[in-house]
Amino acid sequence: MVQTIIVVGGQWGDEGKGKIVDFLAEKADLVIRYAGGNNAGHTVVVNGKKFKFHLIPSGIVHEGKLNIIANGTVVDPEVLVEEIENLEKMGFKIDDSRLIISSNAHTILPKHREEDNPKKDPHAKMIGTTGRGIGPCYRDKIARKGMRISDYVESSNSKIAEKIKPLVKDTCFIINEAIEKGKKVLFEGAQGTLLDVDHGTYPFVTSSNPTAGGALTGTGVGPTKIDAVIGVFKAYTTRVGAGPFPTELGTEEQTNKEGTWDKIEDVYDEALKEALEKANAGDEYYQGKYMRLKGKEYGTTTGRPRRTGWFDAVAARYAVVINGMSSIAITKLDVLQGLKKIKICVAYEVDGKRTTNFILNTKKLTRARPIYEEMPGWDEDIGDAKSFEDLPRNAQNYLKRLEDLCKTRISIISVGPRRDQTIVVDDNNLF
Ligand code: GTP
Ligand code: IMP
Ligand code: MG
Repeated sequence: MVQTIIVVGGQWGDEGKGKIVDFLAEKADLVIRYAGGNNAGHTVVVNGKKFKFHLIPSGIVHEGKLNIIANGTVVDPEVLVEEIENLEKMGFKIDDSRLIISSNAHTILPKHREEDNPKKDPHAKMIGTTGRGIGPCYRDKIARKGMRISDYVESSNSKIAEKIKPLVKDTCFIINEAIEKGKKVLFEGAQGTLLDVDHGTYPFVTSSNPTAGGALTGTGVGPTKIDAVIGVFKAYTTRVGAGPFPTELGTEEQTNKEGTWDKIEDVYDEALKEALEKANAGDEYYQGKYMRLKGKEYGTTTGRPRRTGWFDAVAARYAVVINGMSSIAITKLDVLQGLKKIKICVAYEVDGKRTTNFILNTKKLTRARPIYEEMPGWDEDIGDAKSFEDLPRNAQNYLKRLEDLCKTRISIISVGPRRDQTIVVDDNNLF
């Protein structure tokens, strides 16, 4: 049993951290967002109700927790107030006993949003940003030209600033005092390791540190206070936006051509059936399309179709090391159901050499070819599995192989979007 846990994304974001955080939040006292802004999109399903958050920690749907938007984040005041008002409409009472914002978080201003427009700015287009002003805001922070939220609420008398003002606090003291008193603290990551500005596939990254280190600088908590780091991985891989993706199935262009979710929704059942048939006939693009459709891999923030591919154990092992993960959570295992063969990337071949180390040079990574191991899939629906033993033998073997390759224990398996579709296999590093 532990007191403080950092939850971090092990891949390119969208691993289902929202769901894992929601699950762990049940036993936490504080839930803290430490990096990024409303580029993130977490979806949490509770009692059949879907909640989408961009900025506010996923812990907000629980009673009696203090949610904190900490100093490492960038806050768009308009988006924050919109999320607060949406929650209020649903009957949640939002005050400073439930949500506070660090005085040192930085403010996303209209000029940041205008600049970060992939339709107008070639650089934003090249990276495939979410267009929310994240990069320009962090740039101004580092260049010491930014505006902290404390300055924003003092200098503006707009309705939006007035609404935020009572929630602005010096959160580093509050968090450290809570730890001192033995409270349970959950640090909620956004994005993922491979989108980290230091450790990811630069320049195809976000402008913050989603990795575990970011949880320390992003909150003002020292490394000696952290008990566990849980890395969240999908049972396969997705990426939204541009940049290298060694295990991608089909091409980025093919995926983008499919269009946003609203274009697929009406023909979903037929498209899914067609994708599975072609996937099992060996068509790689359709293997990816099957994952995209079955996993509903469309951006929470932008609706863009996500690029999909097999689990990349080379990249995953790198993420385990960079974050010092104590254990890993595997999500969306149910999505692989129906595929006759499942592949895992166990090494790369690049410039005629085989390597099991992740490649930090982005240009070189673009040339890396995945070397796969193949495993038999399963046909059974696993959405009701309550334990590891309930899973089909082939699914168990797949998970065991992921553990071997990542050299880390799996603590949690997720077999569906609902809170009750979560299997705890090892609670040593959980609350
Ligand atoms: P970022 O901060 O944007 O990286 O988001 P995230 O990691 O919280 O993930 P996001 O919510 O964007 O995407 C995960 C999606 O998968 C959501 O729609 C979840 O409801 C859903 N989901 C989570 N776990 C599972 C699972 O085990 N099975 C299935 N089928 N869906 C899941
Ligand atoms: P930005 O964070 O909007 O600047 O986008 C930079 C890159 O990070 C783009 O490739 C985005 O698609 C990606 N990105 C940012 N936030 C998320 C997220 O929450 N999930 C997945 N990808 C993200
Ligand atoms: Mg997301």
